[in-house]
Amino acid sequence: MKIFKNKVVIVTGASSGIGEACAREFALNGAKVVLAARNTERLHDVKVSLDKTSAETFIVQTDVQKVEDCERLIQKTIEQYGRLDILVINAGISMRAVFDELDISIVKEVMDTNFFGAVYCSKFALPHLLKQKGLIIGVSSISGLTPLPGRTAYVASKHALDGFLNTLRIENMKKGLKVMVVHPGFTASNIRSLALNAEGEPQKETPRNEDKMMTSEKVASLIVKASIKGERNLTFTWKGKLAVWLYNRFPSLADRLIYHEMSKETDAPF
Ligand SMILES: NC(=O)c1ccc[n+]([C@@H]2O[C@H](COP(=O)([O-])OP(=O)(O)OC[C@H]3O[C@@H](n4cnc5c(N)ncnc54)[C@H](OP(=O)(O)O)[C@@H]3O)[C@@H](O)[C@H]2O)c1
Repeated sequence: MKIFKNKVVIVTGASSGIGEACAREFALNGAKVVLAARNTERLHDVKVSLDKTSAETFIVQTDVQKVEDCERLIQKTIEQYGRLDILVINAGISMRAVFDELDISIVKEVMDTNFFGAVYCSKFALPHLLKQKGLIIGVSSISGLTPLPGRTAYVASKHALDGFLNTLRIENMKKGLKVMVVHPGFTASNIRSLALNAEGEPQKETPRNEDKMMTSEKVASLIVKASIKGERNLTFTWKGKLAVWLYNRFPSLADRLIYHEMSKETDAPF
């Protein structure tokens, strides 16, 4: 049975990685999926591959940094399908540099995408989601729960996202809105090659072995399963769970272990 038949799902950052895989997973389970990102060529490729499976998809070019684009994304979705059941807040970028070498504009760039992009989409989607007693899925990170050296802006954006979504859940708990916050560990995708360096340029090469990571497809499949079960929180990989547990109970020890682990990366910046 197609469990999301007649449901409408928006996925931001659907042109690559976890977002693309979520869009595919929801579409294959019967949802009508709105694909949002900046790169329409990539979105078109995703749409074409899903069209072959008779999935129903719709593209809305969206830069989540722009409040007017986020408003338009929700408007176009309602015009096209008349409802919205699930908003997957996934669009995101990363950075890699120590804070004292980091151009301050990069902090804003990361916050504008990972945090304010989420805020804008939630704001315009909320009335429609409330009508359906719908669901917001926020793709945060283990970095929403623990620190990560060399990633100050990224960690700040994900902590902010966690705080925002966990509060939105309580504010709307009597109105039927569900909120699931997802904390992936390192997942194979483009995010590390596109991560901004101290000068704001993509660092181009990933500093980690992507082959050893969970795949975006696996993350997406677990997200969709957890959304069916109505989970509120999803944290991936035993290493990620261990890091969160250690940081909450033994923060000073965790600081040293995280430093040691991250300093093994190629060209670690600290
Ligand atoms: N991969 C990991 O290790 C990992 C771990 C934990 C959490 N996450 C989170 O997972 C999410 C997806 O990342 P990913 O790993 O799948 O990376 P990815 O392959 O680089 O995909 C990022 C997606 O975000 C979109 N995006 C970036 N800036 C945008 C903007 N201003 N407006 C609209 N869309 C934008 C990109 O599309 P366009 O460039 O076409 O706009 C792309 O579709 C992110 O929030 C990331 O923080 C990833």
